[in-house]
Amino acid sequence: MSRARISIDRDFTIGEVPRRLFGSFVEHMGRCVYTGIYEPGHPEADEQGFRKDVLALTKEMGATVVRYPGGNFVSGYNWEDGIGPVEQRPRRLDGAWHTLETNAFGLHEFADWSKKAGTEIMEAINLGTKGVEAARNIVEYANHPGGTQLSDLRIKNGAKDPFNIKLWCLGNEMDGPWQIGHKTADEYGRLAQEAAKAMRYVDPSIELVACGSSNSGMPTFGAWEQTVLTHTYDVVDYVSLHAYYQEHNGDAESFLASAVNTDYFIESVIATADSVRAKGKHKKHINLSFDEWNVWYQRGRNTEDQLHKIQEAGHWQEHPRVIEDEYSVTDAVVVGTLLNSLLRHGDRVKIANQAQLVNVIAPIRSEENGPAWRQSIFWPFARMAELAKGQILRAVVNSDKYDTTKYGDADLVDVSATWDEENGRVALFFANRGLEEAADVEVALRGFDAGQVRRAEVLETPEGKDRHASNNQQVGEQVGLTALDGVKAAGSELRLTLPALSWAVVELDVTRN
Ligand code: AHR
Repeated sequence: MSRARISIDRDFTIGEVPRRLFGSFVEHMGRCVYTGIYEPGHPEADEQGFRKDVLALTKEMGATVVRYPGGNFVSGYNWEDGIGPVEQRPRRLDGAWHTLETNAFGLHEFADWSKKAGTEIMEAINLGTKGVEAARNIVEYANHPGGTQLSDLRIKNGAKDPFNIKLWCLGNEMDGPWQIGHKTADEYGRLAQEAAKAMRYVDPSIELVACGSSNSGMPTFGAWEQTVLTHTYDVVDYVSLHAYYQEHNGDAESFLASAVNTDYFIESVIATADSVRAKGKHKKHINLSFDEWNVWYQRGRNTEDQLHKIQEAGHWQEHPRVIEDEYSVTDAVVVGTLLNSLLRHGDRVKIANQAQLVNVIAPIRSEENGPAWRQSIFWPFARMAELAKGQILRAVVNSDKYDTTKYGDADLVDVSATWDEENGRVALFFANRGLEEAADVEVALRGFDAGQVRRAEVLETPEGKDRHASNNQQVGEQVGLTALDGVKAAGSELRLTLPALSWAVVELDVTRN
C-alpha cells in the first residue's frame, strides 16, 4: 500500500472555479455532428433532427461551453455555406478530414442545439483560407440586432434575436504545418490582430482567443506565443493550448503521469504571456484557453488506420467513421488527472474544452440508428463539472512517488479540491496512478470541521477484467462509478483508501472551525 498525506486550508484558495473549464468541442469531423448530435430520422431525433439521447447525455455530463465548428475543419470553412435554406446549401470537399460536407448543419442549427443543451457557444473563425472580412461579417451576422444586410439576413433565416456569441477563437492551430493556410507566427499574429480589431469594431463586448501552440512539443512552442502575443496583446483575452496524450508501447507509468506535461505546458504559457506583458508594459493579464485536450491514440491505432482508409478509398464520403477511440479504465484515470491539472491552474486557465463531445475521441458514443452510451472518460468529467464549485483550494500533496521514463518521479496520488462555501461542501478529486498498489490517503482539512460524507465514488477496474476494460455496444457500460467504501471523516481529518489504478470523488459537508 502506498501513502499520501494531503493538506488543504480554508484560507489557501486559488480563485473561483471557472465554470467554462468544463467545456467540450463539436467539430465537423467524422461522426461528431452527423449521426452524433444530429441525425434526422433517428428514433430519438427531435423535430429539428437533434438526437435527444445525445442531448440528455450532454446535459448529464455537465458541459458548460462548446467550441464549434473546428478544429482543422474550420481553416477551410466558409461559414456562409451553413446558413439559409438547407436544400440550397453547397456540398463541399473538406480537405482537412477528406470528407464530403453537406452543410445540412450550420450556425443556426448549432445555436438551436446549444440552447437545448444549455451550453454557451464558442465559435471559431477561419483564419486559414479566410481573413478580416469574413471574421467581421460573421460577428455582424451573429450578434448585431438588425437593420443591416447581414443581421437582416440572419432574421430572414429564422433567428429574430441575435445569437450574442461572446467567445470567439481566432483560427485553429495556425502553428501546425498540417493546417490549411498554416502561417508563421508573424503572419498569423498580424492577421489575428487585424481580425480581432475588426470583430471588436462590430461588437466590443466579445472575448477573443488567439492561437497558441498545437502542443508543447511543437518546435516553435514558446517563440510562437511570444510573437503572436506581441502582435495581439491589446486585442485578445486568451491564448489557446492544445494537448492530447496516449500510452506509447505499453508504458502505462508515463502515460498515467501525463498531467505532469499539462502542468508544465500551462505554467510555461503563463510565463511567456507574462513576459510579453512586462516587456510591453501592459496592465491586463492574458488568460489561458485550453480549448482542445484529451486522451487520443494518434499513433498506431484508429487515427492512422482510419484516415488512411478514407483517403485511400479514393472517394469522398459523408461523415466517415474516424478516430472513434474506445476508452479504458486507464484512460479515465488519466482524464481525471488532466482535469485536476486544469482545475489547479484555474486562476489562469479560464476555459477548457475536452475534444470532442460525441464519437470523435469522445466521452459519448452513438451509433447511426442505434443507441448512445457513456465511455469510461465520461465520469471524471461529469462529476467534476457537477461538484467542483466555489473556490479552488490549494492542495499540498506529500505522496509516495514512482519512476516514469518520460517524466522522472511522479506522485502516485494526484488531487484537486474545491470549497463551495455557500452550501458548506468540500469536494476532492483523487487519482491513484499506482497500477498494482492501493493508496492510503489522509487529508488534513485545516480550517474546517468535517461533517457527513455526502458522496464517495470510485472508478476502477471491474471485477474479473483488466485495466483495458472499456464500454461499448456489445458489453454495455461496464466501466463506471461505484460506491467507495471506508471513507472516514472526523474533526479536521479525512481518511480513505484508493484502489489500485482508480479515480475517486469525495464530497463532504464542512463547517468552519
Ligand atoms: O480534435 C481533433 C483535431 O485535433 C482537431 O481538428 C485539431 O484542431 C487537432 O489537431
